[in-house]
Amino acid sequence: MSYNLLKGKRGIITGALDENSIAWKVALKAKEEGATFTLTNAPVAMRMGKIKDLAAICETEIFPADATKVEDIEALYQKSMDYMGGKIDFVLHSIGMSPNVRKSRTYGDLDYSYFQQSLDISALSFHKMLQVAEKMDALNEWGSVVGLTYIAAQRTFSTYSDMAQAKAVLESIARSYGERYGRLKKVRVNTVSQSPTKTTAGSGIGGFDAFYAFAESLSPLGNASAEDCANYVVSLFSDLTRMVTMQNLYHDGGFSYTGISDDLMERMKA
Ligand SMILES: NC(=O)c1ccc[n+]([C@@H]2O[C@H](COP(=O)([O-])OP(=O)(O)OC[C@H]3O[C@@H](n4cnc5c(N)ncnc54)[C@H](O)[C@@H]3O)[C@@H](O)[C@H]2O)c1
Repeated sequence: MSYNLLKGKRGIITGALDENSIAWKVALKAKEEGATFTLTNAPVAMRMGKIKDLAAICETEIFPADATKVEDIEALYQKSMDYMGGKIDFVLHSIGMSPNVRKSRTYGDLDYSYFQQSLDISALSFHKMLQVAEKMDALNEWGSVVGLTYIAAQRTFSTYSDMAQAKAVLESIARSYGERYGRLKKVRVNTVSQSPTKTTAGSGIGGFDAFYAFAESLSPLGNASAEDCANYVVSLFSDLTRMVTMQNLYHDGGFSYTGISDDLMERMKA
């Protein structure tokens, strides 16, 4: 059911690779809620992914951009504003990648140039998207910028490796830039801390199936799906959440505040 929550709003959605991507679901939901938006992803994802199918469904354009490159982000904002005929109301940052995780390096054997790439791709790119937007004055007042994160920023999950540091930086950038952009232009900046979700990035984490099952069993509501996440993100893009900024918002079925569940207790007894 559509509530027209994003009617008249213009946005940019990063990170849709295939139909499992959280960004893919956000795009479908934003379209349903009446938004106009452009899609973007790293140039390499144009060849590997299915983003062109999504663009066809959403009747929009893709402007490829490597989120680590300031000049690519500048071109993305300019082309998006030209294409949509005005400034931007919402941005989804749905970007994460760790070469250390990909290559299964243990936390005691990290490659530091990979570590820097993890931080650059997964965290600094968020700052770059905000700083470029500010310099170009690309966002409308009361605009909303959302980044996606994971609770490994607060608690350790050994196989999440250097992505834990990347997420901690991402969440900190949301607070610092949220304070700045709020005062300057009333733009809000938040991160959504999502349950484990079966996507390309998610499934790349070692032992993913085990911590997906653990979170499912611990969370009173079970794991939040990518569709649920899209609903929540769309609410953050809407005018219904105008006073929410600088927050790390848990969207995890209650996982973050649960000590133990009856289900897990029974299993431990066995
Ligand atoms: N899947 C999970 O369990 C989970 C849980 C919490 C948070 N998240 C976060 O959600 C976000 C989206 O991930 P997803 O799970 O939908 O997986 P996904 O693999 O579908 O999306 C990750 C995207 O990042 C893009 N990307 C990588 N390097 C890039 C670059 N240099 N420039 C531009 N784009 C680049 C990829 O092409 C891909 O589209 C990530 O930030 C991820 O950390 C995922």
